[in-house]
Amino acid sequence: YDSIRARLDDPETAIEDGHRKIEWAREHMPILHELRAEFERDQPLAGETVGMAMHVEAKTAALTELLAAGGAEVAITGCNPLSTHDDVSAALDAQEGITSYAERGVDDDAYYRAIEAVIGHEPTITVDDGMDMIAAIHQDYPDLIDTIVGGCEETTTGVHRLRAMDEDGELRYPVFAVNDTPMKRQFDNVHGTGEASLANIAMTTNLSYAGKTVVVAGYGDCGRGVAKKAKGQNAHVIVTEVDPRRALEAHMEGYEVTNMTDAASRGDVFITTTGNRDIITDDHFPEMKDGVVLANAGHFDVEVNLDQLEELAVETREAREGVKAYELADGRRINVLAEGRLVNLASPVALGHPVEIMDQSFGIQAVAVRELVENGDSYEAGVHDVPDALDREVAETKLDAEGISLDTLTDEQREYMGSWDHGT
Ligand code: NAI
Repeated sequence: YDSIRARLDDPETAIEDGHRKIEWAREHMPILHELRAEFERDQPLAGETVGMAMHVEAKTAALTELLAAGGAEVAITGCNPLSTHDDVSAALDAQEGITSYAERGVDDDAYYRAIEAVIGHEPTITVDDGMDMIAAIHQDYPDLIDTIVGGCEETTTGVHRLRAMDEDGELRYPVFAVNDTPMKRQFDNVHGTGEASLANIAMTTNLSYAGKTVVVAGYGDCGRGVAKKAKGQNAHVIVTEVDPRRALEAHMEGYEVTNMTDAASRGDVFITTTGNRDIITDDHFPEMKDGVVLANAGHFDVEVNLDQLEELAVETREAREGVKAYELADGRRINVLAEGRLVNLASPVALGHPVEIMDQSFGIQAVAVRELVENGDSYEAGVHDVPDALDREVAETKLDAEGISLDTLTDEQREYMGSWDHGT
């Protein structure tokens, strides 16, 4: 399977464009900048091969370059058929020590062949977003497992899948749940998904949120970010949930909470953020208003049941780039963005999360990879939290870069907080 450069008509222009995008991202990633100086000096990854399956765009490229600068050979491909930026992929592929197989718009077969091509480099460390590479290694290349030190997983859905695999006793090497660190989850999932999803829906449709009813399915970390930003743009926000505490939280934040059956006929824009399947189905499509917009921000394209929508539709057409209109028998149209794939990365204008946010997420990825090389032997097979000290290290680097000072505990305060024998 050829790397990306062999498949482009004009690779030189693509490489130039890709470098420019990466350069812009790098300039706004102070955490990766600091780590790069350290990695170039200390070469902590010398002798390692890192296999990555991630959204191949400019911020991910900055992480990829950092790992290569730390001494690793890196092979990368996408983790979603629509999120790759070909120019960034080509710019990575043109660099010493990096091979990129990622290409936008590939079919399922080519998508999995690219993952196999990365596995062909015999990675000693894996970095996934959604767990497709770890799954492929366990299912099809189990002989490699003995030489794999460990892996890192970027997103909630990947961590869910890994925990399920671990509970079945099937996960055979240690994997850090990068998603679950405070520095990732409380920023990337909340602010990143909120800002980027709303921005990409607005850019793809050229429509406003003001005065509209936005239905947010799921009030987890991503959902709370989407709901907050939609409210900030003057939408009326309805939240749907299955978890009673999350539903209550949304209610106490001032959102209307109801079920999807009720929300279906009232929403103008629907955004799914559950990580679950069949959130919007043929129970709901027939109730919807003409011209509604449906977008998904969860990892897989299973939240809106497009097979059922296709069944119901008498006609489909591309209403705008990235917007497919499904016309129902009575003439009503339902507009689906980015083929139901995660809208902030897969819509044609998508740029993914803001750069500053990914600086944090990828800062954690980098220190987690370093930890695997340095102390991988001390982790058993299974899902592991990233050590808290590493999360703090990344937070401190960011605060330094922003010039933000914080207080320090005195010895007396530390002792007070750690004791149980004084109540007054
Ligand atoms: P989470 O677990 O914090 O939240 C998911 C919420 O959905 C939970 O509160 C759950 O109760 C609710 N839910 C589950 N089934 C439901 C149903 N049938 N109806 C209504 N609510 C339901 O997960 P998080 O971190 O918010 O991630 C959600 C998804 O977004 C995952 O697939 C994750 O991988 C993905 N993600 C996407 C990003 C992006 O760039 N678009 C960034 C980060 C995560």
